[in-house]
Formats: sequence, structure tokens, C-alpha cells
Amino acid sequence: MIVYLNGQYIPRQRASIDVDDRGFLFADGVYEVIHSYEGHLFQMDAHLQRLEHGLRSLRIAVGDVQAVGEVSERLIAENGLTSGEATVYIQITRGSAPRTHRFPPAGTPPTVYAATQEVIPQRDQAEEGIAVILVPDPRWARCDIKSVALLPNVLARQRAIEAGAADAIFVRDGVALEGTSSNFFGVFNGQVVTAPKTNYILSGITREVVIELCAKIGVSVHETPILEHQLGEAEELFLTSTILEIRPIVRVNGQPVGTGVPGSMTRRIQQAFRDLVSDLSGG
Ligand code: PDD
Repeated sequence: MIVYLNGQYIPRQRASIDVDDRGFLFADGVYEVIHSYEGHLFQMDAHLQRLEHGLRSLRIAVGDVQAVGEVSERLIAENGLTSGEATVYIQITRGSAPRTHRFPPAGTPPTVYAATQEVIPQRDQAEEGIAVILVPDPRWARCDIKSVALLPNVLARQRAIEAGAADAIFVRDGVALEGTSSNFFGVFNGQVVTAPKTNYILSGITREVVIELCAKIGVSVHETPILEHQLGEAEELFLTSTILEIRPIVRVNGQPVGTGVPGSMTRRIQQAFRDLVSDLSGG
């Protein structure tokens, strides 16, 4: 496998990061995950915009963020992934410098890394749905930055797995916000609801696509908080992300959602998403 590191395309085995890298020492960096369908990088511009937002927020200076798009395309080609599905992972850190909390000297180059991974679609989970648990949200107040500091997400996901569920939903002040690596949607009285874009969620690219698709198929979407105590009344629940696409939730804390199987609204949105992807990737 060929990866990209600081200007070079090299075999994965030859890629190494300095132990003083601030990504390693401080989780001082951001990342993106982009889905490739038949070699077409889905929503590339939106991913690059979000990457720019993160870098600006953290004050990491990268000359040409758009170039990351070209790197992604080249990696897909170099790794023979122009057919089928794959993801591109991109990580940019504040670079390498002896450990001190303050920023490194001006001119320290950021570390830019990108790699690909083949995706084997998990059709069973997409069809049958998953179980989730609710967990308190211990994260910082800048969840809008796609930071590599993912310890709360890692711990919550592990807790879910150990509870026999597939994922956890973060709950802050009584509001069910998002999954550990996905956004959270509900269907109440036939209408789609998802948390508004605030600093307490990541503004998901798939979330945005789903909102647009709902408008297209004539379904109204309300960007309002989903309260934990309302979850029992949800007709349907689902997660969205670059990797999961649209993933039905059929149980929350062991209780069935609606009829306990993926609902018709989730199915419609899954179908609309699949149609969009196959239109874009020429399939
Ligand atoms: N995660 N919320 C969180 C906390 C996330 O980590 C992600 C994505 C999302 C969904 O965003 P998008 O639709 O742009 O993928 C929401 C990626 C996939 C990951 O960490 O692997």
C-alpha cells in the first residue's frame, strides 16, 4: 500500500512519524475521512472546507488545503482502488518540535499524512439495523472541530461494544447529540429531526447530504434538539457518516425503536442516498 507523507508517496512500511510529532504528544491535529465510490471521491469539496475550518480554528497553517484533494485522488489510483469502495484518511498535525505546550517556532512545517483503505460494505447492519446505548458526553465544547483527540469517542464505543451494542449516543444536558463517529437522526410524527449545528456536534457531511435528500424527496427536516426523554416516542432512529452512510438503529439501551425493525422513512433515505451515489459514480 502506498501512503502520502509530507510530499512523498511511499510504501506504508516506510512511512514513519517523528516521536516529537505534536499529533503523537498532544493530539494536536485534525483529520478527515472521505468515501470513494468507483474512484469518485464523494463530497470532496465539503470535506476540504471542513478541514480548512478545523485548521483555521486550531491555527495550523497549511499553504494549499486544496492540494489534499489531489493527493487523495492520486492515492486512490496508486492503490488500485478506482473500482469498488474505499476511504481516504487524511491527518494534519502542527508538526514536530520538542515538547512544550506553546506552539512550535514559526515556520515548523505541519505533518500531512494520507492513506487509503478498501471498504467492504456491511450490508447486514445497513439492512437489519444496530443497537446503541446512551452515554454521558464528556467531550470539550469544540466538537465542531474534527480533532484527532478522540479518547471520549474511543471509550464510549468500547463501552457500547462491551454492552453488546454497536455504538453509543452522546447525551449532554438531556440532549441526544450524536454517535461516537456519526450524526444522529430521529423520525417523530413522520418528520425527520436532527441536532442543530452547534459547537457540540461535528457538522457531518453525510448529515448535510441527508438533509438535502430529504428536501428532494419531499420530507421535512427539523434541526432541533432530540431530547433523551423523547427517544421512547421515536418512530425511527438512524446514524449517518461517511463510513456508515445511513445506518438504522433498532434498539436503544435494550428497548426497541418503533416496531423494532428499520422503518420506511429510513429505507427511503437509504435508497435516495444510494441513488445519489450511483448517479455520481456513473453506476
Ligand atoms: N467520523 N460526528 C462525529 C463525532 C464523527 O466522528 C463523524 C465522522 C461524524 C459524521 O461526519 P461525516 O458524515 O462527515 O463522516 C459525526 C469519521 C467517519 C471517523 O471518525 O471515522
